[in-house]
Amino acid sequence: MKQLKKGLFISLEGIDGSGKTTLAQSLDKKLRADGFQVVLTREPGGSELGKKLRTLLKDPHCNVSHQAEYLLFAADRAQHMKEVIDPALAAGNIVLSDRFSDSSVTYQGYGRGLDVATIELINAWVTHAQEPDLTFYIEISLDTAQQRKKIRNNEDRFDEESRLFYERVINGYNQLCAQYPRIVRLDGQQIPEHIVQRAYNLVLATLKNMR
Ligand code: TYD
Repeated sequence: MKQLKKGLFISLEGIDGSGKTTLAQSLDKKLRADGFQVVLTREPGGSELGKKLRTLLKDPHCNVSHQAEYLLFAADRAQHMKEVIDPALAAGNIVLSDRFSDSSVTYQGYGRGLDVATIELINAWVTHAQEPDLTFYIEISLDTAQQRKKIRNNEDRFDEESRLFYERVINGYNQLCAQYPRIVRLDGQQIPEHIVQRAYNLVLATLKNMR
């Protein structure tokens, strides 16, 4: 087992259907095979409370205001930090989180139109300003995302959103990429093996720089 002096926190971001979950699972497998201790988790739903919040947040029949929606994601994040991420990082693990704070900035801030500065402030509060060391943003076109969604056919409140909403979310991701050097763009139109290999190489390079 490879023990790190300090944990490594990686988040995966992108619009629905971008392939984050597949990438997270592949990275988890490869890093475990290398002997690293990995905690694979996600938002919403990384904690017991979070699983309940996730059901509420995805329910197409549940009427939620934009502010209430954001605060539920923030509650999920607060619990996720305390119950899963903080202990895993303190134990020197690699944490792979399928979505994290950036999703609230892009979906609730840029997508829904809530004030981005307020979201960033509350995000910093619930995470005690813990940012990921590395974030993969998987970029895909809206057309590809929509085709993949038709195949998956799992309708939730976010699957029903308009093209315009997702254009705003993509714009949000582009703004964040310009702002934060920790965010690396991955071309989600490439074959999965290439995407996984590039991300894996970047994780190994980051680990090397930490030693
Ligand atoms: P999920 O099924 O996990 O979708 P995906 O596989 O695309 O991640 O559902 C999570 C949904 O919640 C997704 O549409 C993005 C949205 N979301 C937000 O709007 N804000 C957030 O802060 C988070 C974490 C997720």
